Amino acid sequence: MRLLFLGDVVGRPGRSVVSRLLPGLRSAWQLDCVVVNGENAAHGFGITESIYENLLAAGADVVTLGNHTFDQREALVFIERQPRLLRPVNFPAGTPGRGATIIEAKNGARVLVVNVMGRLFMDALDDPFAAMARTIGECPLREGCDAILVDMHAEATSEKQALAHFLDGRVSVVVGTHTHVPTADVRLLPGGTAYQSDAGMCGDYQSVLGMQPDESIRRFVEKTPGSRLEVATGEGTLSGLAVEIDDATGLAVKVAAVRLGPHLAEARPAFWEEAAA
Ligand SMILES: [Fe+2]
Ligand SMILES: [Fe+2]
Repeated sequence: MRLLFLGDVVGRPGRSVVSRLLPGLRSAWQLDCVVVNGENAAHGFGITESIYENLLAAGADVVTLGNHTFDQREALVFIERQPRLLRPVNFPAGTPGRGATIIEAKNGARVLVVNVMGRLFMDALDDPFAAMARTIGECPLREGCDAILVDMHAEATSEKQALAHFLDGRVSVVVGTHTHVPTADVRLLPGGTAYQSDAGMCGDYQSVLGMQPDESIRRFVEKTPGSRLEVATGEGTLSGLAVEIDDATGLAVKVAAVRLGPHLAEARPAFWEEAAA
Protein backbone atom coordinates (compact mmCIF):
# COMPACT_ATOMS: atom_id res chain seq x y z
CA MET A 1 0.00 0.00 0.00
CA ARG A 2 1.22 3.47 -0.90
CA LEU A 3 0.51 6.30 1.48
CA LEU A 4 1.36 10.00 1.16
CA PHE A 5 1.20 12.44 4.03
CA LEU A 6 1.42 16.22 3.52
CA GLY A 7 2.34 18.63 6.32
CA ASP A 8 0.48 21.76 7.43
CA VAL A 9 -1.10 23.53 4.45
CA VAL A 10 -0.53 27.25 5.08
CA GLY A 11 -2.86 29.72 3.35
CA ARG A 12 -3.24 30.22 -0.35
CA PRO A 13 0.35 29.26 -1.36
CA GLY A 14 -0.15 25.94 0.43
CA ARG A 15 -3.60 25.31 -0.98
CA SER A 16 -2.43 26.21 -4.49
CA VAL A 17 0.55 23.86 -4.53
CA VAL A 18 -1.57 21.02 -3.15
CA SER A 19 -4.34 21.46 -5.70
CA ARG A 20 -1.80 21.88 -8.51
CA LEU A 21 0.42 18.87 -7.71
CA LEU A 22 -1.56 16.34 -5.68
CA PRO A 23 -3.90 15.08 -8.44
CA GLY A 24 -0.88 14.26 -10.65
CA LEU A 25 1.03 12.65 -7.79
CA ARG A 26 -1.97 10.50 -6.90
CA SER A 27 -1.95 8.94 -10.34
CA ALA A 28 1.82 8.99 -11.07
CA TRP A 29 2.70 7.34 -7.77
CA GLN A 30 -0.50 5.23 -7.73
CA LEU A 31 -1.29 6.38 -4.21
CA ASP A 32 -3.76 4.37 -2.17
CA CYS A 33 -4.22 6.85 0.64
CA VAL A 34 -3.44 10.55 1.14
CA VAL A 35 -3.63 12.40 4.46
CA VAL A 36 -3.15 16.18 4.64
CA ASN A 37 -2.79 18.43 7.69
CA GLY A 38 -5.03 21.43 7.08
CA GLU A 39 -4.84 23.35 10.38
CA ASN A 40 -3.46 26.53 8.74
CA ALA A 41 -5.25 26.30 5.41
CA ALA A 42 -7.53 29.33 5.96
CA HIS A 43 -5.24 32.40 5.92
CA GLY A 44 -2.88 30.56 8.28
CA PHE A 45 -5.54 30.01 10.93
CA GLY A 46 -7.84 26.99 10.92
CA ILE A 47 -9.96 25.67 8.09
CA THR A 48 -13.30 26.42 6.46
CA GLU A 49 -15.66 23.80 5.08
CA SER A 50 -15.10 24.86 1.46
CA ILE A 51 -11.30 24.70 1.89
CA TYR A 52 -11.68 21.26 3.48
CA GLU A 53 -13.81 20.11 0.53
CA ASN A 54 -11.24 21.49 -1.93
CA LEU A 55 -8.49 19.47 -0.21
CA LEU A 56 -10.61 16.32 -0.63
CA ALA A 57 -11.26 17.23 -4.27
CA ALA A 58 -7.49 17.59 -4.82
CA GLY A 59 -6.98 14.02 -3.61
CA ALA A 60 -6.88 13.99 0.20
CA ASP A 61 -8.71 11.09 1.87
CA VAL A 62 -8.44 12.54 5.37
CA VAL A 63 -7.62 16.04 6.67
CA THR A 64 -6.00 16.36 10.10
CA LEU A 65 -5.75 19.47 12.27
CA GLY A 66 -3.99 20.62 15.46
CA ASN A 67 -3.91 23.58 17.85
CA HIS A 68 -5.54 25.82 15.19
CA THR A 69 -8.52 23.46 14.74
CA PHE A 70 -11.23 25.93 15.76
CA ASP A 71 -9.61 29.24 14.70
CA GLN A 72 -12.39 29.46 12.11
CA ARG A 73 -15.42 29.22 14.38
CA GLU A 74 -17.54 27.54 11.69
CA ALA A 75 -15.37 24.43 12.21
CA LEU A 76 -17.15 23.89 15.55
CA VAL A 77 -20.25 23.05 13.52
CA PHE A 78 -19.11 21.50 10.26
CA ILE A 79 -16.53 19.19 11.88
CA GLU A 80 -19.50 17.20 13.19
CA ARG A 81 -20.79 16.40 9.70
CA GLN A 82 -17.37 15.71 8.14
CA PRO A 83 -16.16 12.26 9.22
CA ARG A 84 -12.85 12.63 7.32
CA LEU A 85 -11.85 15.78 9.20
CA LEU A 86 -9.91 15.06 12.42
CA ARG A 87 -8.99 17.22 15.40
CA PRO A 88 -6.57 15.98 18.08
CA VAL A 89 -7.89 12.84 19.80
CA ASN A 90 -6.71 14.10 23.20
CA PHE A 91 -8.79 17.29 23.20
CA PRO A 92 -11.07 17.35 26.29
CA ALA A 93 -14.08 15.03 26.37
CA GLY A 94 -17.08 16.72 24.79
CA THR A 95 -15.06 18.65 22.16
CA PRO A 96 -16.89 18.63 18.80
CA GLY A 97 -15.61 16.28 16.12
CA ARG A 98 -13.43 13.19 16.36
CA GLY A 99 -9.73 12.40 16.65
CA ALA A 100 -9.65 9.16 14.67
CA THR A 101 -11.37 7.60 11.70
CA ILE A 102 -11.16 4.48 9.56
CA ILE A 103 -11.30 4.95 5.81
CA GLU A 104 -11.12 2.51 2.93
CA ALA A 105 -8.02 3.17 0.84
CA LYS A 106 -7.99 2.81 -2.96
CA ASN A 107 -6.58 -0.73 -2.65
CA GLY A 108 -9.41 -1.70 -0.29
CA ALA A 109 -7.29 -1.58 2.87
CA ARG A 110 -8.86 -0.20 6.05
CA VAL A 111 -6.68 2.66 7.25
CA LEU A 112 -7.00 4.07 10.75
CA VAL A 113 -5.91 7.73 10.81
CA VAL A 114 -5.33 9.40 14.17
CA ASN A 115 -4.53 13.04 14.98
CA VAL A 116 -2.92 13.53 18.41
CA MET A 117 -1.35 16.60 19.98
CA GLY A 118 1.73 16.94 22.18
CA ARG A 119 1.80 18.83 25.47
CA LEU A 120 5.36 20.17 25.69
CA PHE A 121 5.32 23.95 25.04
CA MET A 122 1.67 23.62 24.01
CA ASP A 123 -1.79 23.69 25.58
CA ALA A 124 -2.39 21.36 28.52
CA LEU A 125 -4.35 18.49 26.99
CA ASP A 126 -5.07 14.89 27.94
CA ASP A 127 -2.04 12.57 27.94
CA PRO A 128 -1.26 11.80 24.26
CA PHE A 129 0.38 8.47 25.14
CA ALA A 130 -2.68 7.22 27.03
CA ALA A 131 -4.96 8.54 24.29
CA MET A 132 -2.97 6.66 21.64
CA ALA A 133 -2.87 3.44 23.67
CA ARG A 134 -6.65 3.62 24.05
CA THR A 135 -7.24 4.42 20.37
CA ILE A 136 -5.11 1.62 18.94
CA GLY A 137 -6.35 -0.71 21.69
CA GLU A 138 -9.86 -0.27 20.28
CA CYS A 139 -8.62 -0.86 16.72
CA PRO A 140 -5.38 -2.87 16.71
CA LEU A 141 -3.29 -3.21 13.56
CA ARG A 142 -4.14 -6.39 11.57
CA GLU A 143 -7.28 -6.96 13.66
CA GLY A 144 -9.31 -3.77 13.46
CA CYS A 145 -7.54 -2.29 10.44
CA ASP A 146 -4.82 -2.90 7.83
CA ALA A 147 -2.70 0.22 8.41
CA ILE A 148 -2.46 3.02 10.98
CA LEU A 149 -1.19 6.56 10.39
CA VAL A 150 -0.62 8.88 13.36
CA ASP A 151 -0.23 12.64 12.84
CA MET A 152 1.58 13.78 16.01
CA HIS A 153 1.01 17.52 16.17
CA ALA A 154 3.65 18.82 18.56
CA GLU A 155 6.43 21.30 19.17
CA ALA A 156 9.10 19.12 20.82
CA THR A 157 11.02 16.52 18.83
CA SER A 158 11.64 14.63 22.10
CA GLU A 159 7.92 14.13 22.68
CA LYS A 160 7.40 13.13 19.04
CA GLN A 161 10.23 10.58 19.11
CA ALA A 162 9.07 9.17 22.44
CA LEU A 163 5.54 8.69 21.10
CA ALA A 164 6.92 7.10 17.92
CA HIS A 165 8.99 4.57 19.89
CA PHE A 166 6.02 3.98 22.20
CA LEU A 167 3.98 3.02 19.11
CA ASP A 168 6.78 1.31 17.13
CA GLY A 169 5.56 -1.95 15.64
CA ARG A 170 1.95 -1.16 16.55
CA VAL A 171 1.29 1.50 13.88
CA SER A 172 2.44 1.96 10.28
CA VAL A 173 3.49 5.62 10.41
CA VAL A 174 4.10 8.31 13.02
CA VAL A 175 4.65 11.66 11.35
CA GLY A 176 5.08 14.98 13.11
CA THR A 177 3.41 18.26 12.20
CA HIS A 178 3.13 21.79 13.67
CA THR A 179 6.69 23.17 13.37
CA HIS A 180 6.32 23.80 9.60
CA VAL A 181 9.96 22.81 9.05
CA PRO A 182 10.80 19.39 7.56
CA THR A 183 13.31 17.37 9.56
CA ALA A 184 16.07 15.19 8.07
CA ASP A 185 15.35 12.17 10.27
CA VAL A 186 13.08 10.17 7.95
CA ARG A 187 13.55 6.51 8.83
CA LEU A 188 12.08 3.14 9.72
CA LEU A 189 12.08 2.42 13.45
CA PRO A 190 13.24 -1.05 14.57
CA GLY A 191 9.69 -2.39 14.93
CA GLY A 192 8.66 -1.31 11.42
CA THR A 193 7.02 2.06 11.98
CA ALA A 194 7.91 4.83 9.50
CA TYR A 195 8.86 8.07 11.21
CA GLN A 196 9.68 11.74 10.62
CA SER A 197 9.78 14.33 13.42
CA ASP A 198 8.12 16.90 11.19
CA ALA A 199 6.80 16.67 7.66
CA GLY A 200 7.26 20.41 7.09
CA MET A 201 4.58 22.65 5.67
CA CYS A 202 2.95 23.06 2.30
CA GLY A 203 3.46 26.80 1.91
CA ASP A 204 5.82 29.61 1.01
CA TYR A 205 9.17 28.90 2.70
CA GLN A 206 10.46 32.46 2.12
CA SER A 207 8.64 33.39 5.30
CA VAL A 208 8.51 32.70 9.04
CA LEU A 209 6.56 29.42 9.22
CA GLY A 210 4.51 30.48 6.20
CA MET A 211 3.75 34.00 7.43
CA GLN A 212 5.23 37.29 6.23
CA PRO A 213 8.40 37.99 8.27
CA ASP A 214 7.84 41.67 9.18
CA GLU A 215 5.24 41.22 11.92
CA SER A 216 7.03 38.14 13.22
CA ILE A 217 10.32 40.05 13.53
CA ARG A 218 8.51 42.94 15.20
CA ARG A 219 7.04 40.62 17.84
CA PHE A 220 10.53 39.43 18.77
CA VAL A 221 11.99 42.94 18.82
CA GLU A 222 9.21 44.97 20.44
CA LYS A 223 6.83 44.21 23.26
CA THR A 224 3.89 46.27 22.00
CA PRO A 225 0.64 45.11 20.44
CA GLY A 226 1.00 44.76 16.71
CA SER A 227 -0.95 43.70 13.71
CA ARG A 228 -2.13 40.30 12.60
CA LEU A 229 0.27 37.81 11.05
CA GLU A 230 -0.39 37.63 7.32
CA VAL A 231 0.33 34.63 5.11
CA ALA A 232 3.37 35.00 2.81
CA THR A 233 2.38 35.34 -0.82
CA GLY A 234 5.17 33.61 -2.76
CA GLU A 235 5.00 30.23 -4.47
CA GLY A 236 4.31 27.28 -2.21
CA THR A 237 6.42 24.16 -1.75
CA LEU A 238 4.80 20.78 -1.17
CA SER A 239 6.34 18.95 1.79
CA GLY A 240 5.50 15.56 3.22
CA LEU A 241 6.31 11.89 3.64
CA ALA A 242 5.93 8.92 1.28
CA VAL A 243 5.43 5.51 2.88
CA GLU A 244 5.10 2.06 1.40
CA ILE A 245 3.32 -0.35 3.71
CA ASP A 246 3.45 -4.14 3.60
CA ASP A 247 -0.07 -5.43 2.97
CA ALA A 248 0.36 -8.48 5.19
CA THR A 249 1.91 -6.89 8.27
CA GLY A 250 0.60 -3.34 8.01
CA LEU A 251 4.09 -2.09 8.82
CA ALA A 252 6.24 0.23 6.72
CA VAL A 253 8.87 -1.16 4.37
CA LYS A 254 9.99 2.02 2.58
CA VAL A 255 9.87 5.68 3.54
CA ALA A 256 11.13 8.89 1.94
CA ALA A 257 10.72 12.62 2.23
CA VAL A 258 8.77 14.55 -0.39
CA ARG A 259 9.68 18.18 -1.15
CA LEU A 260 8.54 19.77 -4.41
CA GLY A 261 8.79 23.50 -4.97
CA PRO A 262 11.06 26.49 -5.43
CA HIS A 263 12.77 26.96 -2.06
CA LEU A 264 13.89 23.61 -0.64
CA ALA A 265 16.13 20.89 -2.03
CA GLU A 266 13.85 18.62 -4.04
CA ALA A 267 13.05 15.19 -2.61
CA ARG A 268 11.06 12.43 -4.29
CA PRO A 269 10.50 8.79 -3.33
CA ALA A 270 12.88 6.97 -5.70
CA PHE A 271 11.07 3.69 -5.07
CA TRP A 272 7.89 5.05 -6.66
CA GLU A 273 9.54 7.21 -9.31
CA GLU A 274 11.45 4.21 -10.69
CA ALA A 275 8.34 2.06 -10.72
CA ALA A 276 6.50 4.77 -12.70
CA ALA A 277 9.32 5.28 -15.23
FE1 LIG B 1 0.63 24.42 11.65
FE1 LIG C 1 0.03 23.72 14.95
